[in-house]
Amino acid sequence: MKITITTHNAEQTIDIGRRFGELLEAGSIVALEGDLGAGKTTITKGIGLGLAVATEVHSPTFTLVHIYPGRLPLYHIDLYRLASEDDVETLGVEDYLFGDGVTVIEWAERMGSLMPKDRIGVTLRMLGDEDREIEFATESDRFVSVLEGLESYARARY
Ligand SMILES: Nc1ncnc2c1ncn2[C@@H]1O[C@H](COP(=O)(O)OP(=O)(O)O)[C@@H](O)[C@H]1O
Ligand SMILES: [Mg+2]
Repeated sequence: MKITITTHNAEQTIDIGRRFGELLEAGSIVALEGDLGAGKTTITKGIGLGLAVATEVHSPTFTLVHIYPGRLPLYHIDLYRLASEDDVETLGVEDYLFGDGVTVIEWAERMGSLMPKDRIGVTLRMLGDEDREIEFATESDRFVSVLEGLESYARARY
């Protein structure tokens, strides 16, 4: 299943992320892809709001994983500095994937074959200065209701 939502500014992307975060359950894996500046960290800020994380989510620049307590813990991982799947394995990134929380991974493609199939892929594309096309895709039945909920939320607003 795949849905596409276009946002027209960062606040809308945060709002979509917030609704997304409200709909996610424990053990969810969100694989973010998109160029630098596409909005991966921005949508993660929204996911944090949806998970009732008390502090603002920032880019985990100098740490690989940032853990935010919330309704469910948010594990925010940024693989930007990793060169390969070998690095991912060495650092034990997989240990965060089956936890009690929601794992959000920027530059998820760097996981290679270590990325589980049971995930939601979110790809952000820059259409202009502030327009972003956000595609949510999953092959897992457990996330269908999440994407349906998100689509009806977005259709009413954007
Ligand atoms: N529609 C939009 N959605 C998300 N970010 C946007 C949008 N329009 C402008 N921006 C800006 O683009 C930048 C995205 O940065 P960031 O989320 O850090 O990207 P990434 O993590 O993908 O490198 C931010 O400065 C944000 O304010
Ligand atoms: Mg980022």
